[in-house]
Amino acid sequence: MNQPKRYLITAALPYANGLKHIGHLAGAYLPADIYVRYLRAQKRDVVFVCGSDEHGTAIPIQAMKEGSTPQAIIDKYHGIIRENFQDLSISFDIYHRTSSPIHHETSQEFFTMLNNAGELETRETEQYYDEAAKTFLADRYIKGTCPKCGFNGAYGDQCEKCGTSLSPDELINPISTLSGQPPVKKKTTHWYLPLNKHEDFLRNWILGEHKEDWRANVVGQCKSWIDGGLQPRAVTRDLDWGIKVPLPEAEGKVLYVWFDAPIGYISATKQWAIDNDKNWEPYWQDKDTKLVHFIGKDNIVFHCIIFPVMLKLHGNILPDNVPSNEFLNLEGDKMSTSRNWKLDMQDYIDDFVKKENGGPQLVDALRYYLTQIAPETKDSEFIWKGFQDAVNSELVAIFGNFVNRAFVLMHKLTSGKVPPLHEHLLDEKDKGMLQEFSSTKERVEQLLEQYKFREAQFEVIDLARKGNRYMQEKEPWIKAKQVDENGKVLPAAQALIDNCMHISLQLCANLAILINPFLPNTARKMLHMMKVVEKMLDWENAGKTKLLSVGYSLRAPELLFRKIEDVEIQEQVEKLKANSQATLAAASTEQPAAESNPPAAIKESPVKPEIVFDDFAKIDLKVGTIQAAEKVEKADKLLKLSVDLGFETRTIVSGIALHFKPEEIVGKQVVVVTNLAPRKMRGIESNGMILMAEDSKGKLHFVRPENIINPGAGVS
Ligand code: 2FM
Ligand code: ZN
Repeated sequence: MNQPKRYLITAALPYANGLKHIGHLAGAYLPADIYVRYLRAQKRDVVFVCGSDEHGTAIPIQAMKEGSTPQAIIDKYHGIIRENFQDLSISFDIYHRTSSPIHHETSQEFFTMLNNAGELETRETEQYYDEAAKTFLADRYIKGTCPKCGFNGAYGDQCEKCGTSLSPDELINPISTLSGQPPVKKKTTHWYLPLNKHEDFLRNWILGEHKEDWRANVVGQCKSWIDGGLQPRAVTRDLDWGIKVPLPEAEGKVLYVWFDAPIGYISATKQWAIDNDKNWEPYWQDKDTKLVHFIGKDNIVFHCIIFPVMLKLHGNILPDNVPSNEFLNLEGDKMSTSRNWKLDMQDYIDDFVKKENGGPQLVDALRYYLTQIAPETKDSEFIWKGFQDAVNSELVAIFGNFVNRAFVLMHKLTSGKVPPLHEHLLDEKDKGMLQEFSSTKERVEQLLEQYKFREAQFEVIDLARKGNRYMQEKEPWIKAKQVDENGKVLPAAQALIDNCMHISLQLCANLAILINPFLPNTARKMLHMMKVVEKMLDWENAGKTKLLSVGYSLRAPELLFRKIEDVEIQEQVEKLKANSQATLAAASTEQPAAESNPPAAIKESPVKPEIVFDDFAKIDLKVGTIQAAEKVEKADKLLKLSVDLGFETRTIVSGIALHFKPEEIVGKQVVVVTNLAPRKMRGIESNGMILMAEDSKGKLHFVRPENIINPGAGVS
């Protein structure tokens, strides 16, 4: 495809009904921000829009919970979330609101256009109605007993105890949460978008056109929706919170939140255009625009099936890509607001960024780790220890260390100035290092264009790693010992020192440009140290070997990153557990939904919440044989294992060093989780996990086949 003329980048509009956690950040906002910063550095015409999703039942329900009003709730959370994003350096061009008049008008106009064009259908259905409150009930407003697990407080759309998706009709003894009375069935009319009529269009667009650059999970989900047969979707609701349906016969009805929310991208663009004296139309109408939606996987159907149909019918452009991330788990469990198993952006900001030893470097630390573990192709996991390792062994020990060494040595060995390059003295190592500038740029660029952010970031760190190796091999500090009788470094030695330092400093400048989309605060700190202006970060400068002028004096180094201490992460793990236990304890003392419900015989279960077979089937278990084992340096608990899986040998880092001596376990068979996302521990990439059983004394035992069998044998 030719280079697009302009880009419109969107990140899913978060509901303004509560704090957002780092899973949200990693899912949509951070990757979108990296992409946009890269495009801006390329000087492309790009607008990055986001804002609060302020409609739907989630808002009035939160208002009820907080004893507040929907308006007060959206005002409160819109402000907090917007500030959280700012604090984490997410650089939206506009953070808009769906409660704004311009959004209401835009959504109503959209609905009217579709309706007038005959693209919507009406249907009469029966729905639960609260006679006391005189209102139809959204699914979330109905509570009752879960038919599956007997929990008394299940909602009309889901049982939060066992996780089953429900419809209000399935609840036993339903009651309205508004009046506490059993609801009655009443007829109501709604407007529907007949998705079934657009199946061919969707099939051609998603499955027929060239979507090789779309993520497999996105295409796969769309395919199964389409193959499953598309049904008309209601785009109106009986609710008093939302955008009024602009028809006289639709009194008391509002647009469905998922109808108006994505239109929020358009109204945000309109507001941005007004604020900046620009035209919004080309961004949504001109085929030269590249529209990209960054979302989490629970939003795929809305962005890839429903909204594209709406856009097509309304005469807008379609998204060029919808990079959707899978979920981010936390410390071994799914993130959950109801169980309070989460790390809110606000908490990270309070506990790290706004602390005395925090600041922008800790914004970048979080951005770094979240990108390193980005759930781009499968669910991944935030582990506090992993965060500490990523910061200490990569940002501090590789990137920060290289930049610091280059600056310290420049002040020591080349009078605080960029030394000249003596071209005739360049050897293979120097030339190889210089070539890495442009080849890394190319790789990073390709990966970013394909939305492969974790690999792109890896390339940048790898360049710093190469810088460290280069300096180690060149040893300018040793050459500086070759002095004459007055203590002056001999000219031949000085020339070699000059070359090494010149190249290292130019490499620092390149690192600043390449790291900028990922860690913008670090890039700016480096600009300050190099005494250069923001313009140097233009992407076209990456790969160049003469960014800093010879003779130019640079500032003293500042530490780019600080280490994360053990106690900091221990505190976080304890806080996570304590908060979650407190929330669960509070929930278990909540009143049952209705007195008429049978008592629920639910005890605290010794087993984890039920999963379906498909969940289990995702785990790939295989028998392996330990071929080698050794202790990991400076890590009491870790052993590095080589495990033969028949088809390949894997490195697995396992926390079993306190239970087994390395030499004792070589030759033993084990069961390995083979499709777990790779994880770095103490700088070693671990590719799998060994299954262990823990006895009552806390001692670990391998789980293994009774008799020796072929490595690679499946376990199910
Ligand atoms: O899932 C959510 O949080 C929704 N509020 C996302 C909306 S995205 C877009 F369509 F606005
Ligand atoms: Zn249940």
